[in-house]
Amino acid sequence: MSDDRYLTFALCKGRLASKTLELLEQIGITCEEMKDKNSRKLIFVNEELKLRFFLSKGPDVPTYVEYGAADIGVVGRDTILEENRNVFEVLDLGFGKCRMCVCGPGRAAELLLHHERIRVASKYPNIAKDYFYNKKHQTVDIIKLNGSVELGPLVELSDVIVDIVETGSTLKENGLQVLEEICPLSARMIVNPVSMQMETERIKSLVNDIRKKLERA
Ligand code: PRP
Repeated sequence: MSDDRYLTFALCKGRLASKTLELLEQIGITCEEMKDKNSRKLIFVNEELKLRFFLSKGPDVPTYVEYGAADIGVVGRDTILEENRNVFEVLDLGFGKCRMCVCGPGRAAELLLHHERIRVASKYPNIAKDYFYNKKHQTVDIIKLNGSVELGPLVELSDVIVDIVETGSTLKENGLQVLEEICPLSARMIVNPVSMQMETERIKSLVNDIRKKLERA
């Protein structure tokens, strides 16, 4: 495909987007427009490099990339696993490191050990389902929450939670602990499968530049 086509990035709003822009800047890709915090614009363009950027809610990033509305996306591995979209994961960006864990009060360890039919609250019902049903072969009831998931065991909505643990301080402050670790997480770069074929050279060279930068860091 010709070089005058824009390559579009979907970035997960917040800390991951800032980290991604910092990293892109280190390899000479800047987007001045995006630095204006007062701007209400949704799409930012670097005309010279023929790049477009937009910010979206994390779970929408794989959706934009699967449908080709964005060629490239940057989002946490938690979201990629939960959304399970048809996208290629091409790079571990190394930041946003945390863990997906089963957590709860210490007494819940016994329930896990004996494969009891427990209630599991999570913002990530698909990850929770996959872990308990396919990996542990344990039948559980999954309750979807949208945030402050640690409340689940505290108000006896659930026995345990499946959630992200970064520093562990939210758990600690609420008398909860990690009971089982599901998987490590970090920010990943994903690519639309068609873009991968049509824009192979541009995407490959971008991925290589970032990889080299990360290796040197
Ligand atoms: C996330 C996660 C935990 C917390 C973990 O929540 O769901 O609650 O951070 O971080 P820690 O181990 O460093 O304490 P977030 O702040 O994104 O808000 P949410 O609870 O509304 O999802």
